[in-house]
Amino acid sequence: MFKGFFAGVLATIIIIAACGYFALRGGVVPANADATPGPLETWAAGTSLHATLNAEAPATPNPVALTDDNLIAGIDLYGKHCAICHGTAKGEESASPVAKGLYPRPPQLATDGVEDDPEGVSFWKVKHGIRWTGMPSWKSALNDQQIWTLALFLKHMDKLPPAAEQAWQHVGN
Ligand code: HEC
Repeated sequence: MFKGFFAGVLATIIIIAACGYFALRGGVVPANADATPGPLETWAAGTSLHATLNAEAPATPNPVALTDDNLIAGIDLYGKHCAICHGTAKGEESASPVAKGLYPRPPQLATDGVEDDPEGVSFWKVKHGIRWTGMPSWKSALNDQQIWTLALFLKHMDKLPPAAEQAWQHVGN
C-alpha cells in the first residue's frame, strides 16, 4: 500500500515539474520588462528581501557623522551613480528613460523616499543590490565608508540643511 502511495507522490512531483518546464519552454511565463510585477512575484521577492534584511542588515548606527560636508559628499556620489535610476530633487518628473524601462521600476527617491528605513537597511541594499530587480550591488565600485555616506544622505533627504539642500537642487542640472 505504501508503495502505491509513494508512487503517487512521485508521479505528482514529476507532473508538476514537467508542467513548470513546459510552461517555461512554451513562453507561458512572460519575459518582457514592459509590465507591472504581479502579486505572487512581488510577494515572493518582498518576503525574501525582508527575511534577508532581518538576518543581515547591520543594526549599528551610521559611522559617518551628520555634517554638511558628509551630506554633500553623499549627494555627489548619488548624482554620479544613482540619479540615473532614482531621479533628482524633482522626483517622479525627473525619471530617466532607464528608470521608466526597468522592471520593477526604481522608486524616484525624492517622491518615494527611504527616510523611514534604518540606515543599516539602506547600507545593505546599496552594498549588495536587490536580486530580481535592476538594483545593482555597489560593493565593487564603492567602499563601506562611501556607502554609509550615501545612507546618511538617503536618511536625511527630506530635511537637508541649507548648504546640502542647495547641492541637492543642483544634481542633474
Ligand atoms: C540601474 C538602475 C539603478 C541604479 C543605478 C541604482 N538603483 Fe537603487 N534600485 C533600483 C531598483 C530597480 C530598485 C527597486 C527594487 C525593488 O523594487 O525592490 C532600487 C532600490 C533601491 C533602494 C530601496 C528603495 C526602497 O523603496 O526600499 C535604495 C535605498 C536604493 N535603490 C539606493 C540606490 C543608491 C544609493 C544607488 C546609487 C549608488 C542606486 N540605488 C543605484 C535600480 C537602481
